[in-house]
Amino acid sequence: MLPKILISRAIFPEIIARLGQHFDVTSNQDDVLWTPSQLSEQLQGMSGVFTTGGERIDAALLAACPVLKICANMAVGYNNFDLDAMTAAGVLGTNAPDVLTETTADFGFALLMATARRVAESEHFLRAGLWTRWRYDMFTGSDIHGATLGILGMGRIGQAIARRGAHGFGMKVIYHNRSRLDDATEAQCGARYVGKAELLKTADHLVLVLPYSASSHHAIGATELAQMKPRATLVNIARGGIVDDAALAAALRNKTIAAAGLDVFEGEPKVHPDLLTVPNVVLTPHIGSATVPTRLAMANLAADNLIGYLLHDKPLTPLNPAVLSAR
Ligand code: GLV
Repeated sequence: MLPKILISRAIFPEIIARLGQHFDVTSNQDDVLWTPSQLSEQLQGMSGVFTTGGERIDAALLAACPVLKICANMAVGYNNFDLDAMTAAGVLGTNAPDVLTETTADFGFALLMATARRVAESEHFLRAGLWTRWRYDMFTGSDIHGATLGILGMGRIGQAIARRGAHGFGMKVIYHNRSRLDDATEAQCGARYVGKAELLKTADHLVLVLPYSASSHHAIGATELAQMKPRATLVNIARGGIVDDAALAAALRNKTIAAAGLDVFEGEPKVHPDLLTVPNVVLTPHIGSATVPTRLAMANLAADNLIGYLLHDKPLTPLNPAVLSAR
């Protein structure tokens, strides 16, 4: 009998077909958004689950699903997993790193440029039929080239953004991270390590690329925004909750900073209503990794992890390898 797995959201048909060669697959191509108890019901008897980043895997769900062995996230972020509870229950978690690094860095730059050059705001103006003449100060924004790019969180995606800024746009790149990069990687990225206060004070454009955790919750709030330059822009492609969205909306309205670009939101897909009414913010629906080849690569990596662990005992990107050594 083939091991049973659940694919918890709609996914590329070729991924379902691929997994179907190895497993007894239940899929959710109608993309029903299951409640935690519905997910738990669907998981009865399943050895593995393919998750997409929004499904909460916690102690209560794990207790109700005693035969579950692996949760394979099709996302690099895994704040939907309670990893301690998974380790305690002997359930492996895997994520999908690396395959989305360059695509997400491209998008970070797209959002940065749209924000600094007021692309969305000016497009709305044109569509509304308000463009009747040229004016010297119409939608004047700030330069990218030659400016100081600040990066908070210098993992793989942060480094890829730094390389684009330093080598593509001649930016001065500064970063802050829990740990400093080695000299060779700093040189490759063209980036200089600074403290968080200096980062906030010096950056013309600040991009957030750090993982969400209790310690990064509201890492950017009213106090931090007040330390930034009035002409600065802020881009968040990391996770909702890292920015205090209510404080940001107020800072945008008061011109504490010039503009922001947000791909992620606290409590998404809900968006703080104040962000919807300020003009100087570009809003996108969590699409940082959304190209066809990258989403396919992410899904294939999640599938590789299910196949690798359940059939060969060799997951590719385990998050809690303690589960492997504990058996
Ligand atoms: C996207 O946000 C991811 O974590 O892959």
